[in-house]
Amino acid sequence: MKIGIYPGSFDPVTCGHLDIIERAAAQVDHLIVAVLHNYQKGNGLFSVDERKEMLGAVTSHLNNIEIDSFSGLLVDYAKYKNTNLIIRGLRNGADLAAEMQLAQMNKKLLPSVETIFLMTAPEHLFVSSSSVRELMLYKRLPQGIVPTYVEEQLKNKWNKG
Ligand code: PNS
Repeated sequence: MKIGIYPGSFDPVTCGHLDIIERAAAQVDHLIVAVLHNYQKGNGLFSVDERKEMLGAVTSHLNNIEIDSFSGLLVDYAKYKNTNLIIRGLRNGADLAAEMQLAQMNKKLLPSVETIFLMTAPEHLFVSSSSVRELMLYKRLPQGIVPTYVEEQLKNKWNKG
């Protein structure tokens, strides 16, 4: 069985992430979407449990997805999950530089690991979780940036002040 891991912060999951998840899921038998539990970074906008819940909701139409979280090194988590396949999305040259560093360090740590990149769809090239978090400060969210369910959760959050 071909198992892939799509790791990330997903704070929150965007339409760009969802596109990568759908395309990655079509390439493997089982796709683990793994949310980094980064204790050093604090809680972020959404808690890890909230991020996982949103990921579950927006991927409910796919039948080969597991939503999980991990802490520590990604390669250790990959070993624990019995896979050596990591999938990441690439939007631009800045992503490429950062992703190459990550992929090469992961390969150094665990030579059997392979990182595969999927090109972000053109309509999502400018979409990022960090811009969503910034827009939240101004209570502005153009359509097509995050899935409708996530938009509702963001609006709940800003209505709570
Ligand atoms: O969505 P992001 O924030 O771009 O995802 C980054 C992520 C989670 C893939 C990356 O930070 C990661 O794998 N962190 C775990 C620690 C690790 O294994 N680092 C690589 C060696 S320095």
